Amino acid sequence: MRVGLAGAGRIGAFHARTLAGLEGVEALVVADADAARAAQVAATLPVAEAVGIDELVGSGLDALVVATSTPGHAPLVRAGVEAGVPVFVEKPLAATLDGTLELVRLVEDADTPVHVGFQRRFDTGYRRARKAVASGELGFVHTLRATTSDRRPPHPDYVPTSGGIFRDCAVHDADAVRFVTGREVLTVQAVGGTKGEPFFAAAGDVASAAALLTLDDGTIAVLTTTRYSGQGHDVRLEVVGSEGSVAVGLDDSLALRSVEDGVSFPAGPVHEAFMDRFEPAYRAELAAFLDVARGAAPSPCTVRDALEASRVVEAATLALAEGRAVALSEIPTT
Ligand SMILES: NC(=O)c1ccc[n+]([C@@H]2O[C@H](COP(=O)([O-])OP(=O)(O)OC[C@H]3O[C@@H](n4cnc5c(N)ncnc54)[C@H](O)[C@@H]3O)[C@@H](O)[C@H]2O)c1
Repeated sequence: MRVGLAGAGRIGAFHARTLAGLEGVEALVVADADAARAAQVAATLPVAEAVGIDELVGSGLDALVVATSTPGHAPLVRAGVEAGVPVFVEKPLAATLDGTLELVRLVEDADTPVHVGFQRRFDTGYRRARKAVASGELGFVHTLRATTSDRRPPHPDYVPTSGGIFRDCAVHDADAVRFVTGREVLTVQAVGGTKGEPFFAAAGDVASAAALLTLDDGTIAVLTTTRYSGQGHDVRLEVVGSEGSVAVGLDDSLALRSVEDGVSFPAGPVHEAFMDRFEPAYRAELAAFLDVARGAAPSPCTVRDALEASRVVEAATLALAEGRAVALSEIPTT
């Protein structure tokens, strides 16, 4: 296969290495708005070559991976779909809800598949939690607790462009709650805190936040997220049912220290960031995308899934700004 990669930044360079090692990838064509960056990434991989960003989609691709900064996603997904090239796009699908809705209409009216990069759907733990819920072994599930905590705050310049902590970080938990439970969100409440460096408040953002979701079967889900988890990168999900409970991320890399006597768990080392936490999941999702592009499987995370996760974080952002509970029905679906 001849696979295109748009965006050779932090995650793009990482995806380039993964794609170059996947079975069936004969050529990897890398492009970036910064041509030197594309050339640099391509130079490290024998199957890769660099082209100008405007030439990428028309260069005879079998599949396109979009990993540019968020504003680049929508035009590249549109170009790929209009050219009939199957697309994998990093989350979020588009920079705004309106842009997301527009792409959903385009993709759902077209025959070209689009796979959105919520990699937790390919993480062994999240998949086992989903299976445990579906099998009924947990009894009736009534509570979920989800956490996405970065070890260190991002660069101050990134914060005003991030869309806010719910759109930037908690969107993965919004998708994971839907993926694991198979339920939809009905209402969202939210709180936020600005302890930490002043650039969060200066950008109108918060450094730590929580959202309280009610699902359409009465399940409660609590999402917490922070930019300051100095102990380590901390991504977890707990699912509590009437007959059993399971935890994702409860292993020796857990970024918590026990203060109980005689407890040596977790033994460490902790995760530094999402790259090391989810490396196998990123590999599995790109391998799955190649199957989508070959026509061997449907998209495992559709534009509609991406829209629903976005609607949850839009509701959380509104709930935080207005200090009230927001019904998901207030957020457009078309
Ligand atoms: N799934 C995940 O866990 C995950 C993790 C990190 C980032 N992301 C997403 O991946 C995307 C990239 O994030 P990053 O951290 O790699 O950013 P980055 O800033 O490190 O890299 C972005 C790259 O895109 C290039 N670029 C920007 N606009 C472009 C355009 N229109 N056309 C071509 N190239 C363009 C930049 O020159 C840069 O090289 C973001 O949308 C982010 O939300 C997802």
